[in-house]
Amino acid sequence: MTCPNTVPYRGNVSRERRERLLDQKSLILWFTGLSGSGKSSIAHAAEERLHSMGRLTYVFDGDNVRHGLCSDLSFSPEGRAENLRRIAEMVKLFLDAGIICMSAFISPIRADRQRVRKIINCDCFYEVYVKCPLEICEERDVKGLYKLARQGRIKNYTGISAPYEEPEQPDLILKTADCSLDQCVDQVVDFILRNNKI
Ligand code: ADX
Repeated sequence: MTCPNTVPYRGNVSRERRERLLDQKSLILWFTGLSGSGKSSIAHAAEERLHSMGRLTYVFDGDNVRHGLCSDLSFSPEGRAENLRRIAEMVKLFLDAGIICMSAFISPIRADRQRVRKIINCDCFYEVYVKCPLEICEERDVKGLYKLARQGRIKNYTGISAPYEEPEQPDLILKTADCSLDQCVDQVVDFILRNNKI
């Protein structure tokens, strides 16, 4: 969708110039996985490490975004699709700014993730599957929401009353039931450092 009667402005300061200034290539690691699988914990811990190595990073976090930019959206299929569309557009701007991005959204529907990839439209898009069996996510129940979902007090809860479609060919798989947080962060940081060179 484009807005009528508008003409995009192309400034002289390009993505490449910003990347050179920062001495890094921007990229996006799109974490997908069940609630409680560890997406946010891994992304924020990886950000901490990269930051202390002098990299400019940003983490887009599902719960945070839903407090602000997307606070008007529900968890219906349409609400989730719009949530992810907005994030994709925002990530696109951050990539243009030269920043190393990680996003932590359940993003349960394959077609929605494909649309995100299409909007971002960059060979610097990497899908990361944070894989963890539902039983373990439910056992962890960090936010107490699985319990409420089982009681029927939260509708459309991913894994309980709404689907999660696994990625078919993710660029990276993090098995959080088998690996420690530190081991997962090692994998993420290695992956980023291999792919962010100018
Ligand atoms: S997404 O499906 O649109 O990608 P998003 O990552 O933004 O979801 O938000 C997920 C977070 O919202 C979960 O970690 C959980 O804390 C909370 N949440 C509230 N209601 C639901 C629900 N019905 N299904 C899944 N998560 C929910």
